[in-house]
Amino acid sequence: MIDRATVDRILDTARIEEVVSDFVSLKRRGANYIACCPFHHEKTPSFSVSPSKGIYKCFGCGKAGSVVSFVMEHEQMSYVEALKYLGHKYGIEVKEKEETQEDIQQRLHHESLLIVNDFAQKFYTEQLLKSDEGIAIGLSYFKERGFTDATIEKFLLGYAPNKRREFTHNAQRKGYKKEHLVEVGLTIERDGTGELLDRFYERVMFPIRSISGKVIAFGGRTLRKDKEVAKYINSPESEVYVKNKVLYGIYEAKQAIAREQKCYLVEGYTDVISFHQAGVENVVASSGTSLTTGQIQLIKRFTNKVTVLYDGDWAGIKASLRGIDMLLEEGLEIKVALFPDGEDPDSFARKHTREQLLDFLANNEEDFISFKQRLLQQELSKDPLQRARLIGEVVNSIAVIPDAIVRAVYIEQTASKLNIKEELLQQEVAKLRHKKQSENFYQQKREQERIERLQGIQAADNQTYAVKEPQGGKNIPGFVVNTYCSEAEKEILYYLLKFGNLPIHVDEEFAYGMQQDEEQTVAQYILAQLQNDDLELQNLQYKEIFDEYYRLKEHESDKVLRYFMNHPNGEVSKIVADLFIQPYTLTIQQFSKSLVPERNVLGRVVPKSILIYKAKVTAQAAMNLTEELGRAQKEKDVELQNELMGQLATLMQVRNFFAKELNRIIF
Ligand code: CTP
Ligand code: MN
Repeated sequence: MIDRATVDRILDTARIEEVVSDFVSLKRRGANYIACCPFHHEKTPSFSVSPSKGIYKCFGCGKAGSVVSFVMEHEQMSYVEALKYLGHKYGIEVKEKEETQEDIQQRLHHESLLIVNDFAQKFYTEQLLKSDEGIAIGLSYFKERGFTDATIEKFLLGYAPNKRREFTHNAQRKGYKKEHLVEVGLTIERDGTGELLDRFYERVMFPIRSISGKVIAFGGRTLRKDKEVAKYINSPESEVYVKNKVLYGIYEAKQAIAREQKCYLVEGYTDVISFHQAGVENVVASSGTSLTTGQIQLIKRFTNKVTVLYDGDWAGIKASLRGIDMLLEEGLEIKVALFPDGEDPDSFARKHTREQLLDFLANNEEDFISFKQRLLQQELSKDPLQRARLIGEVVNSIAVIPDAIVRAVYIEQTASKLNIKEELLQQEVAKLRHKKQSENFYQQKREQERIERLQGIQAADNQTYAVKEPQGGKNIPGFVVNTYCSEAEKEILYYLLKFGNLPIHVDEEFAYGMQQDEEQTVAQYILAQLQNDDLELQNLQYKEIFDEYYRLKEHESDKVLRYFMNHPNGEVSKIVADLFIQPYTLTIQQFSKSLVPERNVLGRVVPKSILIYKAKVTAQAAMNLTEELGRAQKEKDVELQNELMGQLATLMQVRNFFAKELNRIIF
C-alpha cells in the first residue's frame, strides 16, 4: 500500500502528455495531442491526449483513461507498480505504509534473493562478453546460433565458467551471504563437508524473469554433446521462483501479447529468443514442462487467444495434448500450428523473415479440436474399436470447454466430420461432464460461482422498485420496474463527480412547492432524489462508482474526481474518463451548445437530469407492465388483468406528469 499523501503528490505532479510521450510520439493539435494508438494497429492517428483534462482516449479502439491507467495498460503493470513508476519518473519517494516489523523482514529477505539473482545475471553476462573463456566458448556458440548482440543483451544471456567455484567465490568476496546464494540455488552446499560449489558451470545461461522483469531463476545449457551431462539445468524452486507460475519470456512479451491479442506458446528458451529476433514478440515458453493453471492465468491477464506451436515431432505432440485440454478448460481459445518436418519454431524463425513467419503461422494454425480429430484420424485405422477410442478422445476435449455454446458448436462440427449422430455425441459429452463434475470439487466450485454470478446479474436486472411521485408526494407502491437507463445514469454520475461538492439551489420550477434545504450540495441532492423514490443505479459498474463516491469521506470535488480518474480498477478509470469525453445525448449535449457555464445553472441542469432519469424509469416500468398485461390477456387471467390495468393507469399518470414537466421545462 502506498499512503494517500504520496498518491496525491504523484498525481499532482505527473503530466499525462509527458508520461504518454515517453512511449508514443505525440503531435500537438490545438489544446490536445494526437498520435497513432499504442493499443491497436492503425495508420492514421485516432489516439488523443488532453492535458487539461488529464485524459487519453482512442477513438479507434475505445481505450481511455488517466495517467495511471495509461501506464498500467501500456506497461501491463498493477496499480501500485504504475504509481511507483510515476513516482520514480518524477523523483517522488514512494513509501509504502503500515509495514509491520515482520513485513519488513520478509520484504528485505525477498529483495535480498532478487539482488543475489541480479548479481549472478550480471556476473554471467560479464563472463560471456569479457572473459576469454566466455567469448571463446559461450559467445561464439550464441553467434553460431545466429543470435545478435542486441538479442543477447535483451535476454540478458550469459556464460557460467568451467571452474566449479568461480561464481560463489566472487559472490562471497562481494559480500553476498551464503544463505541467500544457497536459497536461490546458485550455490550448492555439500552435505557433511559444507563445501560450497556452483550449481552452474560450463554452461550458457538463460536468465528467467518475472512478469515485472526481475531475474528470478536461470536455465543453463551445456555445450557438450555427450549424453552423460544433462542438456539443461534449471534453478530449483525458491521463494522468488515458483515454477508453475512462471512463463519464460512473459516480461519481454506482455506488451505484444496485449497489443496483438494473441499469444504463441512454444517449448523452449531458444524458440522464444529466435521469434523475438525475427520480430515476433508475443511468444512465451512453458520450458519443456507441461502447462500449469498458474501459467495459464498469467497468459489470461493479457489475452484469451493462444496458439500452441509444435515441431513436427509426433511423440511430443501426443504428450502435450493433455496440457491443451487444460487450456480449453480455462476457457481459452486454442489454436495449434505444426512446423514442417525437421523444423522447430527456433530453426524456422531463423530461416525466415518476419512476414514469412507470420504468414506461415496465419496459414497453418488450426482450431484445436479439429486438429485433434485430424491427428487421431490419421493415426487410427477404420477398426471400429479404434474409432470409438478416437471419438472418446475428442469427446474428452469438448467436455472440458466451459462455455456451453462453444461446446455445442464443436459437437455439431465433430458429428458431421466423424459422421456420428449429434445426439450421441451430446450424450457422451454430457455424461463425461457429469462424471467430471462430481469428481472435481474445484471445477464444481467454479461452475457454482459462475451460476451465482449469472443469477446476481439477473437479479439486478429484475430488481423491483416502488415508483413514487417525483417529489415525496403520495407513494404509488408495487410496480415492478425493469430499468436500464444507462445514458441517464451516466449523466447523473457526471454531475455527481464533477460538481458533487458544490452547493445547489434548486430552481423554483423543479421544487414543486417543496421546501428546499438551502445548505445542500449536489451530492446530497442527488442522493435524496434517488432514495426518495427507492431508486438505485442499474448499471452495476455505475452503481459501484456511485456507492464508492458516497463512501469516500472527503468530498472535495477536484480530488475525488481525480481519484476516480486514476482509480485502482482500470475499468472504473475508463468509465470516468469516458464520461468526460463522450458527447452526451441528454441534458449535457443540449447544454454544451449554450454559453452559460454549467456550474452557474446547477439548480436547473441537475434536477433536469434527475427528471429525465425518473421519466425513463417510469416509461420502462410502463412498458414492462404493458407486456405483462399482454401475457395476462393471452392467458385469460382476468383477475391479474384488472390488477395490472389499475397499476398501469396510476403509472401512466406519473408518466404523463413527467412528460408534461419535460415539455414545460425548456432549457
Ligand atoms: N528443458 C529443460 N531441461 C531439460 C531439457 C529441456 O528444462 N533437460 C526445457 C528447456 O526450457 C528447453 C525446452 O525444455 O528450452 C525445450 O527443450 P529442447 O528442445 O531440448 O531445447 P532447446 O531449448 O530447443 O535447445 P536447442 O535448440 O539448443 O537444442
Ligand atoms: Mn531447439
